[in-house]
Amino acid sequence: FEVNWDAEAAEKGGYEHFMIKEIYEQPKAIRETMTGRLAKDDSRVVFDELKWTKEDVANIKKIVITACGTAFHAGIVGKYYLEQLARIPVEVDIASEFRYRSPLTDEQTLAIVISQSGETSDTLAALKEAKRLGARTLAITNVVGSSIAREADQVIYTWAGPEIAVASTKAYTTQLISVLMLALYLADLKGTLPPERIQELIKGLRALPGQAHELLEDVEPVKTFAQQYGFNEDVFFIGRSLDYAVALEGSLKLKEISYIHAEAYAAGELKHGTLALIIEGVPVIALATQHDVYEKMLSNIKEVKARDAVVIGIAMKGDEEIKKYVDHTIFIPATDKYLAPILAVIPLQLLAYYAAVTRGADVDKPRNLAKSVTVE
Ligand code: G6P
Repeated sequence: FEVNWDAEAAEKGGYEHFMIKEIYEQPKAIRETMTGRLAKDDSRVVFDELKWTKEDVANIKKIVITACGTAFHAGIVGKYYLEQLARIPVEVDIASEFRYRSPLTDEQTLAIVISQSGETSDTLAALKEAKRLGARTLAITNVVGSSIAREADQVIYTWAGPEIAVASTKAYTTQLISVLMLALYLADLKGTLPPERIQELIKGLRALPGQAHELLEDVEPVKTFAQQYGFNEDVFFIGRSLDYAVALEGSLKLKEISYIHAEAYAAGELKHGTLALIIEGVPVIALATQHDVYEKMLSNIKEVKARDAVVIGIAMKGDEEIKKYVDHTIFIPATDKYLAPILAVIPLQLLAYYAAVTRGADVDKPRNLAKSVTVE
């Protein structure tokens, strides 16, 4: 079953596929998702749809995030945001796991479900289960009036616009924006961040649409790598901290549409198994945008280079150091570490897209996959 967006009306607008059109719509989608939610003086996030008080927030002892697929990966990034900025413990669960594991969820739990379509049956069931256990529920979804939007106590809409391609792109980046804004909203109410830090991150958020646009202006290097390495059968994605979460999404994108076997690894885990698979010529996409783990990441890059992997580094503009250790580098505009995932995923989406095109795959409708999975 596929959700029947008004496909006729949603034209490809000159693009060859919906997926590439949606990748290019990200600056706009990000901007719209922030519209009306950032105070004019950048002092705080305003969520008129939530209107939580300090007391409401003080009662949240735990957050559980449940979702499927790409939305689950947004949840993993969300855990970093909510724990580090709002200092609330967060569990992230695949929706189909959450419902069957007798979760320790109660009235002091905030259950967040993330779903582009708002119709994924496992996510809806996880939401109902959390509600049954007494949790307060919040949906982050892209579809107004969807089943999940109706079932949840409260909703934060991502204003990404209709997403047609099966592989999710602009929904993911707007999910990250939404959960980051939520973390800043909670941080403000809980007093877990100095006001200057909140302001700094809000300024960083405001710069994102322009930076995403800048990234999308020069896609030639990514296209070239995709053409060059698109016929390899295995690709590895490595990263630490937030870069690991982005690696998971980059690897899923590649699998979904190009059918290349891809694995994402927390870079520190490589030596506990995967390093055995790194042989000459295997492409490794190494994300290195997180300054606090940068040196550790460089050691992991050296480990794979020593096995003659071909390393493509994803780093922030201005990082000249990385070039010494990798074969190719893709730079993202310089930004805060919390905002880096939103930009770093874009070259990975493009890599998957151009690899799929190179291989002649059906980009918008990959085999065996559906846009919205409404069966268990
Ligand atoms: C399907 C889609 C994925 C999506 C997942 C969750 O598997 O192919 O792209 O991430 O469902 O969908 P949702 O609508 O709940 O975000």
